[in-house]
Amino acid sequence: MTQSTGTKIDSARPTTPMRWLAGLAALALTLVLSGPGALADDDDSLADQLADDIRAGKVAIEGDHAAVSELILKRNLPIPYSYVETLMRTPNAFGPGPACIVCHSTGDPAKSYRGLDLSTCDGIKAGSTEAPQRALFVAGEDPKREILGRRLRNNRMPLGVQFNVPTDSAPIVAIRDWIAAGANNDDNFKSNIQKLFTTANTFGPDTPACAECHMSNQEPPSFHELDLTTYDGIMLGADSVAKGVDKATKVIIPGEPDKSGVFQHLVEDRMPPGIDPTEDRDHPNTQILFAWVKQGAQCK
Ligand code: HEC
Ligand code: HEC
Repeated sequence: MTQSTGTKIDSARPTTPMRWLAGLAALALTLVLSGPGALADDDDSLADQLADDIRAGKVAIEGDHAAVSELILKRNLPIPYSYVETLMRTPNAFGPGPACIVCHSTGDPAKSYRGLDLSTCDGIKAGSTEAPQRALFVAGEDPKREILGRRLRNNRMPLGVQFNVPTDSAPIVAIRDWIAAGANNDDNFKSNIQKLFTTANTFGPDTPACAECHMSNQEPPSFHELDLTTYDGIMLGADSVAKGVDKATKVIIPGEPDKSGVFQHLVEDRMPPGIDPTEDRDHPNTQILFAWVKQGAQCK
């Protein structure tokens, strides 16, 4: 069988596990011969570490992403920029949809949404050039709650709302203004704001009320233990049982709508636009991209 460049990866696949197993057996033998002292060696190769972990029962093979987490993330393999570049130009890279660079290809806001250029390393690091100008992440830090992480992982709420529903409708503006004014339990909250969370079709046609899915601090039935039916519940935030009341994820930051999860989830569409909200939010490529950012977003 001849191997053209285009099919190299596929045709190489069947032999890979065999080679891997043979390598592992050879390794095990080496380790047995060289004794337990070798296990503590700081200069262990990746394959050595893997063999150690398998023997110590530390390798949990769970779910579809086990190989990515075991072999890449856990061992902090350096992610080359060339892989990130490929992700940005490849359809379906983070779940079904067009490649990112189709819509974000230059810093010119007339030709690229938000003036965001995801086709170059400098462009990715510069972020959006249209006002409000902003970076997508801080190199070296976890981007999960930064703009990049939110756009790849967070579904817009109410879950299932279409990407083309305006983000400046009267109810959304009312919530933004209430948060900006300090998010108080005042007359405005009681007569105008509270009901926005408990009424269907408030944020788009054929959409359930927020309270359909966030009605108490118990999951199930309430997603993320988030209770959007009362003032106290809204201010308490998400996951207060799992993480403890003090460590619950605040979804309202008084005075700061842009930093408030409730507002972010009302206006930020998950990318690529139109992606089904049931698509995996922890797609292996999303995790690899985040690893590249955490490693410092190197352009090499
Ligand atoms: C079909 C076109 C399209 C595709 C494909 C697309 N985007 Fe977007 N993107 C948009 C539009 C439109 C906006 C601006 C409207 C909005 O805020 O939702 C946007 C906004 C963003 C923002 C917010 C920037 C800011 O400053 O607020 C980020 C980040 C982003 N996209 C990343 C991506 C990534 C990563 C991909 C690939 C997975 C991608 N986009 C694919 C159309 C697209
Ligand atoms: C059909 C069910 C459903 C509805 C309706 C719904 N949500 Fe959600 N919500 C979810 C799910 C599922 C998640 C988990 C994260 C995701 O999918 O992005 C979530 C997550 C959230 C989070 C993030 C919590 C965290 O851990 O930080 C916020 C904030 C939120 N929703 C607010 C709202 C608001 C506001 C509304 C109404 C506009 C709403 N949700 C309507 C299902 C729903």
